[in-house]
Amino acid sequence: MSAVAGPTRVAIVGAGNVSDEYLRALTSYPDLTVTAIADLDVARAKAQAEKYGVPASGSAAEKLGRDDVDLVVNLTIPAAHAEVALAAIEAGKHVWGEKPLTLDRASARAVLDAAKARGVVVGNAPDTIIGPAIQTSHRLLAAGEIGTPRTVLTLMQGPGPDVWHPRPQFLFAKGAGPLFDIGPYYVSTLVQLLGPVVSVSAVGQTPRAERVIGSGPDAGTRFPVEVSTHVSVVTTFASGVVGTSVYSFDSPVHRQLFEVTGADGTMEVPVSGFDGPTRVLTGLTPDSPWRDVPAEGVASGRGVGVLEMARAIREGRTPRAGGELSFHVLDVMLAIEESVERGAPVAIESTAPLVPPIPVEWDPTARTFDGTEQK
Ligand SMILES: NC(=O)c1ccc[n+]([C@@H]2O[C@H](COP(=O)([O-])OP(=O)(O)OC[C@H]3O[C@@H](n4cnc5c(N)ncnc54)[C@H](O)[C@@H]3O)[C@@H](O)[C@H]2O)c1
Repeated sequence: MSAVAGPTRVAIVGAGNVSDEYLRALTSYPDLTVTAIADLDVARAKAQAEKYGVPASGSAAEKLGRDDVDLVVNLTIPAAHAEVALAAIEAGKHVWGEKPLTLDRASARAVLDAAKARGVVVGNAPDTIIGPAIQTSHRLLAAGEIGTPRTVLTLMQGPGPDVWHPRPQFLFAKGAGPLFDIGPYYVSTLVQLLGPVVSVSAVGQTPRAERVIGSGPDAGTRFPVEVSTHVSVVTTFASGVVGTSVYSFDSPVHRQLFEVTGADGTMEVPVSGFDGPTRVLTGLTPDSPWRDVPAEGVASGRGVGVLEMARAIREGRTPRAGGELSFHVLDVMLAIEESVERGAPVAIESTAPLVPPIPVEWDPTARTFDGTEQK
């Protein structure tokens, strides 16, 4: 790796709910330093800056162009992702975004094209695919633990985030719902472990036209639901693997499953977080024993993708949770939505690079730069 003087300087745009997790992580990695935090609500940005010892806060417009920012972390709501990313790229900054990349293919492609033209890098959540839990599954699959993968079964169901989020309206608006809010974790993991998708066929339902805010100062307020809140999908991968998935905010029962079955066994992947074992069943008979393989590698959490992207930029390589992967994931989710609308299968035109697992010794907590801090 080439020597770079000082940590990568990060500005956060969007000081809402998820910013605490990011700020905790990004202020702890020696390879990064958070120099500014911005929000439309400047008081919210100021409070987060004070809480985490970030030196500057204010509005996005004034913070994006700062000289002491190399990389912008976009934690705004999905409807603002494209606009904030394009403004950051225009200012010559690399951009990491929360999921989804944007709301449509045209704006997502515009973000990637603008970044290419400006010579900056785009990366996008989720970064669970970089964490020790999913990477352990990836290494086991790559080592042939269950043989050649044939099918995958995923289930994500629960009552929905209206129950706990103080501002849940955006989670039931275009660009969210179970497919776009939680789907990115599943679709990114599917593509990371099983390669690109070539077609999807889906059915959706919206059993309740309105929901009620369940917590915070606006608890009890009704708001409209614009998206399918239960989606069933059949997915065909370029490899020939066939997937069956449910994404639902319409069940009182919280349940998550990500199960890959291969020629020689089955594997349960801990899809939704950064820790937890991979469960492996070798053999194809019902009495075969399950075995837990603990997550291997240095512990990490949300925000590790920003760190991995900063290192990728220093090393001149594509980040693992990079723009093209994120475009493919968005393309698949949009195709699922289109399949629901048309009642027919939809072919996927984009693809994503096959990425090998991360070496088990990869350490996000290490200091990989030399020299002094940049001024
Ligand atoms: N809440 C979570 O636990 C969670 C988990 C994973 C991912 N995410 C993702 O993180 C993103 C943010 O979610 P959240 O729950 O923190 O939302 P939030 O509504 O709590 O916070 C979003 C913040 O962005 C600000 N904002 C909106 N548009 C802006 C703009 N143009 N310029 C500057 N600031 C702007 C808002 O004022 C608000 O403070 C979403 O993409 C979501 O999918 C959230």
